[in-house]
Amino acid sequence: MEVIIVPTAQDVGELAAARIADLVASNPDAVLGLATGSSPQGVYAELHRRVQAGSLSFAGVRGFALDEYVGLPLEHPESYASVITRDVVEPLGFDPSNVRVPDGRADDLDRAAQEYDEAIAQAGGIDLQILGIGANGHIGFNEPTSSFASRTRIKTLAPQTRLDNARFFDNPDQVPTHCLTQGLGTILEAREVVLVAQGAGKAAAIAAAVEGPLTALVPGSALQLHRRATVIVDEDAASGLK
Ligand code: F6R
Repeated sequence: MEVIIVPTAQDVGELAAARIADLVASNPDAVLGLATGSSPQGVYAELHRRVQAGSLSFAGVRGFALDEYVGLPLEHPESYASVITRDVVEPLGFDPSNVRVPDGRADDLDRAAQEYDEAIAQAGGIDLQILGIGANGHIGFNEPTSSFASRTRIKTLAPQTRLDNARFFDNPDQVPTHCLTQGLGTILEAREVVLVAQGAGKAAAIAAAVEGPLTALVPGSALQLHRRATVIVDEDAASGLK
């Protein structure tokens, strides 16, 4: 695992975006794994800047979201389908038919999860997975105690995660209780993983994931097993590292 500490949150976004831009330049139909939440916002903003400047195109790039809430209507502004459309597909100019989000409204969620892993495999696998990390060490919505071998599946959101994500909803009770998430095994199959984190609120999770023991209690520690994992953090998020 490579850990890169940069001075500011803006630098995190710029460096991660540069990695993605290099990949897309060399492989215009690359397959990206797309995280939502606050952490990758700076990455997407810098990629948008490059698209607007004409130096980068996502027209042929394919994308798979990391996760989706169960039960939110598709058009709900906080469904990850809506978030990915708003934050990634539209500003970066993806072909919408090239981007897939787990179907959290499916009647048969187990089947939808299995089909999602199959779709990733049919696309040839993920070339680069963008990740954030939860304050409790989760990646995707693989909450503590998730198996390192897990596949895309339904998960119960931890109380802490529902609390953390309440900021996106009018009322904490509106945060869904369940999600579909790529599994840790699914994430580990990506050919490259780039995790971004900013701020002191992520310092403990970063320290545990990077320097702690491999443990299902810290799902991010699974990345220690990956051959090409890069963790890009600002100085605040790095402040718990030895
Ligand atoms: C998002 C995701 C989550 C977030 C994590 C951090 O698709 O799967 O693992 O990356 O909860 O969230 P933020 O970035 O909002 O602090």
